[in-house]
Amino acid sequence: MSECNCCSNHKNDKKEMLLKIVEKYKGSRSNLINVLHEVQELYGYIPLEAQKTISEEMDIPMAEIYGVVTFYSRFTTEPKGQYNIAVCLGTACYVKGSEAILERFKEKLGIDAGECTEDGKFSLEATRCIGACGLAPVLMVNEDVYGKVTVDKVDEIIDDYKKRGQ
Ligand code: FES
Repeated sequence: MSECNCCSNHKNDKKEMLLKIVEKYKGSRSNLINVLHEVQELYGYIPLEAQKTISEEMDIPMAEIYGVVTFYSRFTTEPKGQYNIAVCLGTACYVKGSEAILERFKEKLGIDAGECTEDGKFSLEATRCIGACGLAPVLMVNEDVYGKVTVDKVDEIIDDYKKRGQ
């Protein structure tokens, strides 16, 4: 898991690293994408607090930063778990029942799409087409692609990642 809330030291370390990133790119608005990339690598997502810091330090309005963050699908404002489960709700997957798969994950993990389990192990999201329609319905767990998934497979997939531990 990339985000850590276990102690204030880690939070302070991250804040310091955030300021270093901003410092490196300060002076030009065209560097905003680079800053956001590095911030996402640092936290695993782009927290609102970090957006505020970028806004103040780089003198860029929050609305502009938020606009960029939400425009590019590679940026996320939600914390990700150690294992991020992305269920495709694109047309091909949807007609083959991916919504029921997403519902099953929500039920099993006790979280909604866009949320992270309390232990930080899993996060869940609904995505648009990921370009593997031939395998519909499709989901990804981090970089692993699962095709022709059924609702019955959901428990198995979760158990498999639980066993992998840290
Ligand atoms: S619609 Fe799901 S991979 Fe294309």
